[in-house]
Amino acid sequence: MANNELAEVSIDSLLKENRKFLPNKKFSENYILKDYNTYKRMYNSSIKDPKKFWEKMAATHLVFFKKWRSVFKWKDYKAEWFIGATLNISYNCLDRHVNSDRKNKAALIWEGEPGDVKTYTYQQLYSEVMICANMLKSLGLVAGDKAAIYMPLIPEAMIAMLACTRIGVVHTVVFGGFSSNSLRDRIQDSGCKILFTADGGFRKGSVVKMKEMADEALLETSTIKNVIVVKRTSEKVNMKTGRDLWWHEYSAKQAKVCEAIPLSSEHPLFILYTSGTTGKPKGLLHTTAGYLLGATVTTKYLFDIKETDIYWCTADVGWITGHSYVVYGPLSNGATVFMYEGAPTFPEPDRFWKMISDHKVTTLYTAPTAIRSFIRLGNEYPLKHDLSSLRLLGTVGEPINPEAWIWYNEVIGKKKCPIVDTWWQTETGAAMIAPFPGIMATKPGSATNPFFGIEPVILKKDGTKAKGNEGGYLCIKNPWPYMARTIYGDHDRYKKTYWKEIEGHYFTGDGAHQDKEGYFWIMGRVDDVINVSGHRLGTMEIESAAVHHPSIAECAVVGRPDPIKGQGIVAFITLKKSEKVNSHLKEDISKFIVKEIGTLARPDDIRFTEALPKTRSGKIMRRLLRELATTGVIKGDTTTLEDFSVLEKLREKDED
Ligand code: WT7
Repeated sequence: MANNELAEVSIDSLLKENRKFLPNKKFSENYILKDYNTYKRMYNSSIKDPKKFWEKMAATHLVFFKKWRSVFKWKDYKAEWFIGATLNISYNCLDRHVNSDRKNKAALIWEGEPGDVKTYTYQQLYSEVMICANMLKSLGLVAGDKAAIYMPLIPEAMIAMLACTRIGVVHTVVFGGFSSNSLRDRIQDSGCKILFTADGGFRKGSVVKMKEMADEALLETSTIKNVIVVKRTSEKVNMKTGRDLWWHEYSAKQAKVCEAIPLSSEHPLFILYTSGTTGKPKGLLHTTAGYLLGATVTTKYLFDIKETDIYWCTADVGWITGHSYVVYGPLSNGATVFMYEGAPTFPEPDRFWKMISDHKVTTLYTAPTAIRSFIRLGNEYPLKHDLSSLRLLGTVGEPINPEAWIWYNEVIGKKKCPIVDTWWQTETGAAMIAPFPGIMATKPGSATNPFFGIEPVILKKDGTKAKGNEGGYLCIKNPWPYMARTIYGDHDRYKKTYWKEIEGHYFTGDGAHQDKEGYFWIMGRVDDVINVSGHRLGTMEIESAAVHHPSIAECAVVGRPDPIKGQGIVAFITLKKSEKVNSHLKEDISKFIVKEIGTLARPDDIRFTEALPKTRSGKIMRRLLRELATTGVIKGDTTTLEDFSVLEKLREKDED
């Protein structure tokens, strides 16, 4: 819901930015598009006749078993693309390369946190995926069944995802940093029959006990019949007889071949949960043909995939970025993916740069929050290593502040790598606004121009267009092939959240403006969603978790600017009458929230207050709390406040 004023989310430095960087000549010479006019021509025709455009893209970039009857249908906010066609994602990511010169090319180069390295050629990955698909089959799973994946960032996570797609099983990957309660909720909502996990994962030199967390989640789920466990850390774990199977033992018993089955274009591919404005995360459902097409062509054009690239997107597969740009996009293009299991600063702050140099990574795609923390660590770490293999840099997850952009360009890219700032969302499936490197001038902090076939518009609340460079709500004019089709089990919520806020347009929940040259500048969320280190969290989600704490009466959560994380979490809490503030309470509440949601939701600041500011109708005035948390004072309009004494109390607390 767009209930915040846009002015609040504007980032001053972005509004003043006017530097412009022309594409590097050498890069441009080898780029897939000739010049900006070529882009413009292709873009215009893609908007004029999207069906024709996407049809051509699909025919050029994907292998279908059966061709479509018609390209697109949109009815009751349900989109269908490439109707009547059949295809298989794992076929597109594996078989077609195995049947080509890429057979013995590395598909995946993986490095574990302790330093162990494993490489899979396309042929090897293909074999592993077929065996894994046979594990699923032999446990009785058929197309349409759901599988949960709760794993560290190890090759088996990619293998399990691809194995699901091979036989039409719908995967839901749950980020390993989420708590057992979050895992439980996601399994319950999607009704998964099987869970892939590992005994543990390595993070910052210690072990995250994943199987233990999974066991806890499974105490309150009834749908999981089997758990397949990868041995990663050799932790001692409980294996429940009849339910739990070791990956290495069970896979050894499988047949080696499993054909990719033809699935219809709209066959559900995965459900991925993300935070919204209510307490309950939304399970976005993506489908087969449109999603794969989006992931494939955006990877190709925006990251300029070349046969010799070593491509590294640092995201975990638990996020949409990992789905589209660690697994599906690069593999569909036949690229070599680099994957790293652990923490960026382990054992030393130069780990990323060391790996780039060791593996000769050419393409690095990461988040502004990571870039900012590298800046803070100091230039000596990247400068210690030879980063000359890099030729393209990408960012995603939140608006990048110009200072971080410039550092990325100079210290990492040595001013020769284009910076591809990609704006998109879990819902959009793949990149929507981003510079086509090599042919577009970039401006620090701007995601620049739309991808082919995507028509972003900046609208005011009444649906009229924002004028000039006036800010407004970023919306997308028409459905596109790679957008999420629904919220699993709640199509009404999908309609309401995305298509009814401004009737007939896809509502992104972001504020933006366009400059004189038409470049898009994303200003951040305009709803009750906060972006902590590039990860989306709903304020209501944290609040609903917090109020289960026995001492808490009420809780209001707001975001405040954070120099590294983008936004930090501030929780204003009123205690139950009988409770007293003591020195342990803050830590205890913090731990409680982490247990409910996961470490990403750990509050940066907890403030106890006697009351929360509310309107006469009882709505918490988060705007005032946000102002207080950010600036320490409240200057905004307070006329709708019900009890003015609350303000005085909040101020007093703040001065403590
Ligand atoms: C929200 C979506 C898309 C993968 C990562 C996050 C913010 C994302 C950018 C960018 C400015 C960005 C938006 C968006 N966002 N990329 N390049 N510039 N803002 O996916 O968790 O679904 O979050 O992230 O606010 O709505 P997500």
